[in-house]
Amino acid sequence: MTDAAASPSVRRLSEWDAAELRALRAEYGSPLYVLDLERVRENARRLGAAFPDAEILYAVKANALGDVLETLREEGIGLECASAGELERALAVTDSGVDVHYTAVNPPARDLDWVIDAWEEYPELTVTVGAEDTIDRLADRGYDGRLCLRVNPGIGAGHHEKVQTGANAKFGVPAERALEVLEDAAERGFDVVGIHAHVGSGVSSDQLDDHREFVSRMGDLAREVNEALPTDLEFVDVGGGFGVPYRDDEEPLDLEAVADATRDALGDVDATLTIEPGRYFVADAGVLLTTVNTVKDARDTTAVGIDAGMTTLLRPAMYDASHPIRNLTADVDAAAAASNSETPDNGRETIEQTITGPICESGDVFCTDRKLPASERGDVLAIGNAGAYGYEMANQYNSRPRPASVVVDGDEVRLARRRETIDDVTRLEHGARSASDDSSGDPTE
Ligand code: LLP
Repeated sequence: MTDAAASPSVRRLSEWDAAELRALRAEYGSPLYVLDLERVRENARRLGAAFPDAEILYAVKANALGDVLETLREEGIGLECASAGELERALAVTDSGVDVHYTAVNPPARDLDWVIDAWEEYPELTVTVGAEDTIDRLADRGYDGRLCLRVNPGIGAGHHEKVQTGANAKFGVPAERALEVLEDAAERGFDVVGIHAHVGSGVSSDQLDDHREFVSRMGDLAREVNEALPTDLEFVDVGGGFGVPYRDDEEPLDLEAVADATRDALGDVDATLTIEPGRYFVADAGVLLTTVNTVKDARDTTAVGIDAGMTTLLRPAMYDASHPIRNLTADVDAAAAASNSETPDNGRETIEQTITGPICESGDVFCTDRKLPASERGDVLAIGNAGAYGYEMANQYNSRPRPASVVVDGDEVRLARRRETIDDVTRLEHGARSASDDSSGDPTE
């Protein structure tokens, strides 16, 4: 067991063992996601130590790998799911629906049907709704179980405008209408258990004031709801969004400061504080290994082509996100040279490089003019902080198969998800014309 308080609050890419990662690349090929379950545990324990009285859920969307869900379940962490598919994964690792939340965002009819079937088997499940008509759609299906209302607090935060949700019309019922909606739901026989909001993802320490203001609004609302409703709320869920440092010079989030600010801002409420981070649990537990296949002088820079692209790790193309990159081959060579006194200096020259993927899009770039040891064809590169929203956002654009994933747990290494083949990419078309298409139903029902 690792002492949570003792585990460092960030694991930098430079701390991964270059020789071990290269051995994984040699055994499983590339591109390859590697996830260290012990680091996931450390992150969970650090969160638990900072929020000792809170209920902690994991936002499954950050990394839905079964090994991650099992590991976090064993640590006593609940699961927050954004779709029927995530719920299916969550229920596969739980005996009951306790601490499993389904957060419905404009839920397709097929998702609601699936959730209702699941609820009949797991009546402890909590459904979080962000629109009044979702309540009607649940009632139409006979649902009168645990209900939580997602509120739009009117404050957004996060690392990029595309991940700021707190003031976005798409998410939640405007806070000023929340009480009325909850009273109505309680009268209709729903078991109203909580209120919820999530302001955005990748919230940094310098956005702490926004966080404080948002949580204090949630506290005010919870007190109003507890006065008006016949039974008290069980919980106030203030979402996730805890940022992690992607650049080497960025400081990690001061978790204790966030926890103190959250408790203070919430104030005295007769309800449990719930948080549901995703990224914080898994980001620095994962790296993406990739191999250099092309190196060329390209006027003002050296263009380095690798076998991972925006289909493997979408974040740089979608959010201009920066991820640390390390040349493992150069590092292993340099370490070997350093230990051999006859050839003391085998270091490579450091030059500016633009690292690009194999997709036919100019946005398929991991970094521009970054100073790294000069790459050579066949070098293995590691892209850090890839454990969150990495594989989850991978796709098959350009008919490109998705990569494999391995998990490392102490001395044990196992293939957690095999690499897709081109056959996997084309197989859904085979026989499609004769198969019935279950997407014909009305998605609004
Ligand atoms: N709860 C809800 C309702 C959410 O929508 C999210 C994230 C979370 C919790 C967890 O947020 P986290 O703690 O992981 O920041 N693909 C983007 C992030 C999108 C997050 C969407 N919702 C990225 O790669 O940065």
